[in-house]
Amino acid sequence: MKTTLLTHPKVKASILDCIGNTPLVYLERFSISVGFKVFAKLEGANPGQSAKDRIALSMVDAMEADGRLHPGGTVIETTSGNTGFALAMICAVRGYRCILVTNDKISKAKLDALKALGAAVEICPSKVPAEDPRSYYEVAKSIHAKTPNSVYINQYFHPGNPDAHYHTTGPEIWEQTGGQVTHYVAPVGTGGTISGTSRYLKEQNPNVETIGIDAYGSVLTKYHETGEFDENEIYPYLLEGVGKNIIPSNVHFDLIDQMTKVGDRESALEARDLAKTEGILVGFSSGAVLAGIRLMAQELPKESVVVAIMSDHGCKYFEKIFNDEWMEEKGLL
Ligand SMILES: Cc1ncc(COP(=O)(O)O)c(C=O)c1O
Repeated sequence: MKTTLLTHPKVKASILDCIGNTPLVYLERFSISVGFKVFAKLEGANPGQSAKDRIALSMVDAMEADGRLHPGGTVIETTSGNTGFALAMICAVRGYRCILVTNDKISKAKLDALKALGAAVEICPSKVPAEDPRSYYEVAKSIHAKTPNSVYINQYFHPGNPDAHYHTTGPEIWEQTGGQVTHYVAPVGTGGTISGTSRYLKEQNPNVETIGIDAYGSVLTKYHETGEFDENEIYPYLLEGVGKNIIPSNVHFDLIDQMTKVGDRESALEARDLAKTEGILVGFSSGAVLAGIRLMAQELPKESVVVAIMSDHGCKYFEKIFNDEWMEEKGLL
């Protein structure tokens, strides 16, 4: 009885089999307001409530397959929360130790979730340069060097990150839109989501236009436009997961047609609006994607079929963008 149930097509062998195949939902009110059809790819429907489940699984699988990750091993990663949650979930299922290095912008809810899944968490200052020994990149490297039988996942540079989206998110969007997608809009952090998905969609139809959403305070847009890494572009901001102070190799700039920067305020307000107008709770970076689409609305033809990546679930931001006191304190209301 037990064996047959375990192989039953409607039963998942573990939580990891629930990753991917997220819904694509038409945003009726938002579409009317911008003048073309916009569909939201709800990555918050993954078991870890973000797109990072896909990449965490792909990177761990790749490191097991190439012999770098062994039973009893330790997985180390820098994360703004979501990749950490996904890795902690995978480590719990596969029996690895998990050490996550994050920065002080992480919400308490995200931090509690990581701990609940059994991960050890190190918090580093966000307002230091990437090469500073206190930055989360440097701290993760040093923990890795000191921990035997450990791997440093490094999602900014691991090819398993865009690969996951090439093999799953891209085909899902193509199939869900019946090949009608004309514009693909995604936030850019590590670059995995935009690069992998864009590669797949452009292989199906080279006319699909890929738009990257970046944050004020990030170096990525200027680098995309000029090839210059300009340190003057770097300053603190509140958005999580969008923009960078380094150039990750997983941002494949040649697969991004244009990039646009958005601010904290309009991003937070779009996410709050979406909850009230469409009944969909999405995270801060999803608000950034919607703000970016609104900014570019004049440039896009009426017949456009826009797919917008909603990277994570809004329940991760109850203490932040969905909290009026926090919004007021940050001057965002
Ligand atoms: C909430 C959130 N949005 C957007 C992103 C950006 O996605 P990617 O890293 O695939 O560029 C991330 C990842 O860092 C994230 O955690």
